[in-house]
Amino acid sequence: ERAHIGVTGLAVMGRNLARNFARHGHTVAVHNRTSAKTRALVDEFGHEGTFLPADTAEEFVTLLEPPRRLVIMVKAGAPTDAVIDEFAALLEPGDMIVDGGNAHFADTRRREAALRERGIHFVGTGISGGEEGALLGPSIMPGGSPESYAALGPILEDIAAKVDGVPCCTHIGPDGAGHFVKMVHNGIEYADMQLIAEAYDLLGRAAGLRPAEIAEVFKGWNSGRLESYLIEITAEVLAHTDADTGRPFVDVVQDRAEQKGTGRWTVQTALDLGVPVSGIAEAVFARSLSGHTDIRAAGRGLPGPTPGTLDGEAAARFADDVEQALYASKIVAYAQGIHQIEAGSTEYDWAIDPGKVAEIWRGGCIIRARFLNRIREAYDSPRRPDSLLSAEYFRDALAGAQDAWRRVVATSAELGIPAPGFAAALAYYDGLRSPRLPAALIQAQRDFFGAHTYRRVDRDGSFHTEWSGDRTEHAV
Ligand code: 6PG
Repeated sequence: ERAHIGVTGLAVMGRNLARNFARHGHTVAVHNRTSAKTRALVDEFGHEGTFLPADTAEEFVTLLEPPRRLVIMVKAGAPTDAVIDEFAALLEPGDMIVDGGNAHFADTRRREAALRERGIHFVGTGISGGEEGALLGPSIMPGGSPESYAALGPILEDIAAKVDGVPCCTHIGPDGAGHFVKMVHNGIEYADMQLIAEAYDLLGRAAGLRPAEIAEVFKGWNSGRLESYLIEITAEVLAHTDADTGRPFVDVVQDRAEQKGTGRWTVQTALDLGVPVSGIAEAVFARSLSGHTDIRAAGRGLPGPTPGTLDGEAAARFADDVEQALYASKIVAYAQGIHQIEAGSTEYDWAIDPGKVAEIWRGGCIIRARFLNRIREAYDSPRRPDSLLSAEYFRDALAGAQDAWRRVVATSAELGIPAPGFAAALAYYDGLRSPRLPAALIQAQRDFFGAHTYRRVDRDGSFHTEWSGDRTEHAV
């Protein structure tokens, strides 16, 4: 008997993916650098399906039915290159290597091109959903050639999460498209988490609610339009009491957020593509600020407004206002992320369908949320919106939310509570709305000090004014 698919790299994600394949009736070859992990998997979970353990790379490859489908689940960067080199030497033209880690899409493009020369399909695949998702059904974002998807798609769709019977897996596009979309997924994840964190902070510091009370507010939100995995787990975290101290658990956790780098990649790439992902960038910067204990210690003495909280009516209305601000800001974060996906797709010729992306993010992944149905609808309509914000449903939602959104941002500024995510999202929204932007002045300044030229509103062509001379204007 040979295996339909093989998994090498049996840390928790790889192990759970292998079990997921096996539980769906696929014979899975399993391999790990140290055989103890392979044996442990078979001993513990062998009853779940058919596992074919291999001690060596050579043995692993012979266990796979051709064309071979080999999933590598190892650390991004050098370890991934090492494993690819090791296996590529053992594979034949037509075989497929799936990289299911969080690789940078530029690495994936490089690896795909190199392996294509040898006739091997390299399928950079975003997999979201953490440990539980890997076992019970992740959201899967494969890139690579259409031929590779023809051979892999059915197996991946089998193990993916399902929403209304639709698998959360689709061929995103060629070469690095899958890892690019996973990267942007993580950027949106950072933004979503930051916005939720700001909502929690404002409810606590402006409205004076305790974590357990805020948990109730989030629980309520989770039965409405904000329903999502991240809101759900937020309510659970906030309701949790620390066993040691009896204090709210969130209060005993150090307030320094770490990051492994995918959010940073999203912003770096957005800068290269010239896409304004301000909400995602603020989320990355907020994590970074939180980690600078030195300058935070120095900043603690800086003056702020007279301390205070909202009273009476304003306090009563505030939770609803924050819900609206959160929803509006979340829409902006997704709009920015989708803009980046569209820009990447144009730059690299990927032909990514944002509606399909929204569809496979509805289940399995960390940012799964009810409102992704609305995004899918917006891009499924015959008139694809230029920006998510201009799609009818979202335009109406923002129209309804904007007064409250403005009140929340104003309140945060007045009370001195940082809300960079809410504020950046609102500034982006107002930036898009503005018929004229002060960019006109910036162009004039650039022309003044650097003769960088400008365009006029009333005539075609580029112009320069003799700022240091008689201030006459020339066409250039
Ligand atoms: C997912 C997650 C996952 C990511 C973690 C940690 O989709 O399952 O995005 O891929 O690695 O969320 O990210 P940070 O350590 O950067 O917060």
